[in-house]
Amino acid sequence: MNILVIGSGGREHALCWKLRKSAHAGKIFCAPGNAGTAQVAENIPIGATDISALAAWASSAGIDLTVVGPEAPLAEGIVDVFRERGLRIFGPTRAAARLETSKAFAKDFMQKHRIPTAEFRIFHDKEYDLLRDFLRDAPYPLVLKADGLAAGKGVLIVEGYDIALETAEAMLRGRIFGEAGRTIVAEEYLTGIEASVFALTDGNRFVTLAPAQDHKRILDGDMGKNTGGMGAYAPTPFVPTETLAEIKIRIIKPAIDGMRQAGTPYTGVLYIGLMLTDRGPKVLEFNCRFGDPETQVVLPLLEEDLAVLLDEIARGDLQRSRVNTLDATAVCVVMASSGYPDAYETGKVISGLEEIDEEADGVIVFHSGTKRSGDTVLTAGGRVLGVTAIGPGGDLQKTIGLAYRAVQRIRFDGAYYRMDIGRKGIV
Ligand code: AMP
Ligand code: GLY
Repeated sequence: MNILVIGSGGREHALCWKLRKSAHAGKIFCAPGNAGTAQVAENIPIGATDISALAAWASSAGIDLTVVGPEAPLAEGIVDVFRERGLRIFGPTRAAARLETSKAFAKDFMQKHRIPTAEFRIFHDKEYDLLRDFLRDAPYPLVLKADGLAAGKGVLIVEGYDIALETAEAMLRGRIFGEAGRTIVAEEYLTGIEASVFALTDGNRFVTLAPAQDHKRILDGDMGKNTGGMGAYAPTPFVPTETLAEIKIRIIKPAIDGMRQAGTPYTGVLYIGLMLTDRGPKVLEFNCRFGDPETQVVLPLLEEDLAVLLDEIARGDLQRSRVNTLDATAVCVVMASSGYPDAYETGKVISGLEEIDEEADGVIVFHSGTKRSGDTVLTAGGRVLGVTAIGPGGDLQKTIGLAYRAVQRIRFDGAYYRMDIGRKGIV
């Protein structure tokens, strides 16, 4: 099976790495990829949203299966285009991807199917007066979300009426999030522990991967600005078997059944961002893709042949209702460029990579923003590396130690990382 992975981050490196281990994988390509994907796949210089060029290339190169990493091409309908051309692809159609691309759609859908989520109201841009009245009497803190894709920045927690009004005005009238903010979801503020669960589905059946926890804030102790994710670990003790069973019954199954009944079957991976509240798990958000950096910890724990699993799903013929997971723990520490998530410099030389041996150290260095220049690897993004340790099952402490020992052997100018990845999982 010749496989094309689309994207260029740590998630895509982890996908290529795991697919490379498949007994059924032939050639693996990554478009456009990075210096890490180049170690396990052949990079193809086509951008992730250049859909027609990707489809043309996949046809001519004899690709049997395409796996889409990021949401942008999914939102633009890459799955629809590939399927029209008879190309097999793993991911949701543009219509199904609305579970991520429109928060208003996702909230209405959850309400209709009684999927537990925060209470909400939806306001369109013509309803500014209605929104102002609502904000006057709303409970605070309140969460205001831009309806559309806003590069992870479209969620704002507001503490009172004045700031809420100012924010709503900036979204609806000032268009700080462009068209994505033309519709606003005002949502109840939930408290609890956050977790990520990935369901792989062919539209009917599904399997879940090891529940994980991300670390979204830039500073230790979950302080400071939101980022794409500064580290992750799996499995998380906050989603034991009974909780996962509840998530399957109350959230995943009704979501998959509801999308099928609506005539827009959901296929691919459904990322469920959860708040574990004292009234049970509630959905914070759906994403239509694998999470980054959760993928870097979840895939190394998967015992199955990933190529076979994703191919079954892309064919609409998932053959199982559960997958086997290794008795192990995974911790990924993201090394970022100084300044991230704001402005940062790139082009710094990364050293120490060759000192880390996957087999001997139990550590895989997944590349996020890197590029090769001759014999050296340079930083090329905000998140640069995802240093991922695989340790013994049930021993998170030891696995955290393994990950940080490897982090300390890697150097680049301005390297920044959190010191507390995984600590919240030690209970
Ligand atoms: P989202 O993009 O919807 O996942 O939101 C980004 C982050 O905002 C989440 O990971 C949460 O930390 C926070 N968040 C979103 N919705 C809520 C909510 N209803 N209550 C509390 N925090 C929230
Ligand atoms: N790790 C968060 C995300 O992928 O959206």
